[in-house]
Amino acid sequence: MTTTDPTTAAHAAAATAGAPGVVFPPGFAWGAATAAYQIEGAAAEDGRTPSIWDTFSHTPGKVANGDTGDIAVDHYHRFREDVRLMADLGLTSYRFSLSWPRIQPTGRGPAVERGLDFYRALVDTLLEHGISPVATLYHWDLPQDLEDAGGWPIRETAHRFAEYAALAARALGDRVPLWSTLNEPWCSAFLGYGSGVHAPGRTDPADALKAAHHLNLGHGLAVGTLRELLPASAQIAVSHNLHLVRPLTDSAEDREAARRIDAVGNRIWTGPLFGGGYPADLLADTAAIVDWDELIRPGDLAEIGRPIDLLGLNYYTPTIVSAPRKDAETPDPAHNGGHGESAHSPWPGAEDVVFHLANEDVTAMGWPIDATGLSESLIGMHRDFGLPLMVTENGAAYEDVVGPDGGIDDPERIRYLHLHLAAVADAIAAGADVRGYYLWSLLDNFEWAYGYSKRFGIVHVDYGTQRRTPKSSARWYAEVIRRGGLG
Ligand code: FCB
Repeated sequence: MTTTDPTTAAHAAAATAGAPGVVFPPGFAWGAATAAYQIEGAAAEDGRTPSIWDTFSHTPGKVANGDTGDIAVDHYHRFREDVRLMADLGLTSYRFSLSWPRIQPTGRGPAVERGLDFYRALVDTLLEHGISPVATLYHWDLPQDLEDAGGWPIRETAHRFAEYAALAARALGDRVPLWSTLNEPWCSAFLGYGSGVHAPGRTDPADALKAAHHLNLGHGLAVGTLRELLPASAQIAVSHNLHLVRPLTDSAEDREAARRIDAVGNRIWTGPLFGGGYPADLLADTAAIVDWDELIRPGDLAEIGRPIDLLGLNYYTPTIVSAPRKDAETPDPAHNGGHGESAHSPWPGAEDVVFHLANEDVTAMGWPIDATGLSESLIGMHRDFGLPLMVTENGAAYEDVVGPDGGIDDPERIRYLHLHLAAVADAIAAGADVRGYYLWSLLDNFEWAYGYSKRFGIVHVDYGTQRRTPKSSARWYAEVIRRGGLG
């Protein structure tokens, strides 16, 4: 994806957002998304061993309020109830992630059948309810043993990942039609090993870049394995949080800042993924940090560039950047990928770039609401990559209040979702082949470094009792699905 400026045709198309009667194509997947560590709990059950997130969340000071995913929303024991909730909403698809340490505890050796049984039962229950499962192999929970051996900065981890992919594919390949390798590897590499606000909490820019290459390689190796083991009808995807980068002004300096962030935020993934290799400007920007010639081995780029069937976009807010300025605003929360603050930059080679808020209309995460960024992203991805797309995450945290009658009225979340679904419709109307929308998230859950303090669910969870209560946004989304679009 290239950077865009607000005067593009895409922006003009987005201006129709909110038009009444917007209908989505037949077969459009109406989904919701979750991730294993954020919902499952049962952290030490049935052979599961710690992941980097267990270690990180149990380290004092790393997660708000000392929260951990030990219990989370107990989905491991309550998945049947949760699937019934999905069916009541009318979801046609559900995106979840497999916990690597539940399936292959040390990241080596055979699979644990009890771990796989959980996912077999989950998938079978989804299928019984007519909900199509989408399995993500990696949503950030590396087995701690693999981190102890070096983590994503070492090459071996990519090979471990492909072996784990094989275990998952053999067990679930007959019943999961759509697979995604990685979720937001930008966060794994640059928040995990750069700014350190995510597990494993390391802060070395060279390690962050090495992690990025090995995540790319792990993706490619896993695609090869999945193609070998899955039925020919299975589809393979990857989900990226491609940053919709806009320069603050049209000055050469601000456009240069945007170029740098686009390089290390986006093209570091899409370059090799789509056969173009790592972009020359990225290699130049980061040449003093890492030795790319040593890092990239012969054959790596061919592995990473294996064809995929779908590209997933996770979108929450645009990324507005400038060159250093005297009147620099308070750092945009998006500076750290929106997931916490750190003295260490998650942007190797672009450390001095300044981040700005797109506007003052923010969610409880402090993330500005600008749905034009979603349509612009989808149209740009369609233009640049030409393959089918999915919005694999989009949603908003708000400070929900339980009313006296026990209900949760969340009109702000409905507004956010409405604007963004309209933006998806705009992208489709402009020609982008968007096959589905996965709302983040089905349930309130463990929001990484923010613990349970941020609620993204359309279903409220009382963390004391684990009681689930659909919010008004859940009823609104059910109605959108029933109508096949925005009314
Ligand atoms: C994304 C993550 C997801 C959730 C949302 C709010 O970056 O993939 O797990 O934390 O942000």
